[in-house]
Amino acid sequence: MNPIVIYSTHRTNTAKIALAIAQTANCNSVELTKTFDVSTVALDNYDLIFLGTGIRGGEPYVELLNFIKTADLGTGKRFVLFMTWAGGGASNKLAYERVKEALEQRGQNLESDYFVCLGQTFGFARRGRPNEADVAAAQKWATEKLK
Ligand SMILES: Cc1cc2nc3c(=O)[nH]c(=O)nc-3n(C[C@H](O)[C@H](O)[C@H](O)COP(=O)(O)O)c2cc1C
Repeated sequence: MNPIVIYSTHRTNTAKIALAIAQTANCNSVELTKTFDVSTVALDNYDLIFLGTGIRGGEPYVELLNFIKTADLGTGKRFVLFMTWAGGGASNKLAYERVKEALEQRGQNLESDYFVCLGQTFGFARRGRPNEADVAAAQKWATEKLK
């Protein structure tokens, strides 16, 4: 198994989880920024792709969707999703579906058991999240994926 972690983060919550997963998987991580050049990631060398995003208005981040739409995704790879959110209604399920749909449009599948944990946002709500327990849960999930 040759994994890589590819993620978008606006306020560092998802980055925290991304880096913890990369540490567990002992692999590289790539942050997608607004100016990210997709041609700089060759997925050829990887077969397990951890995709990460925060949630904005029930949607995954546009940087992740753009990556899925435009990158050379190859064939025969496993895609898995992790997210951080504020616990807003069903937006985790909606965001998962959006990522799945985008991958399917490129002829790829998204595995169903995604990881999600809370991430702090403005004010006091969700302060300190993701916390140590969230990081540990993400690493446990990633370990299962690596089997
Ligand atoms: C403008 C905005 C919209 C958001 N919309 C949602 C939402 O629809 N559902 C939700 O659960 N969280 C929502 N959040 C919370 C973020 O998804 C959460 O803070 C996440 O951990 C941010 O990840 P990041 O730090 O990696 O960018 C929103 C946050 C902001 C700032």
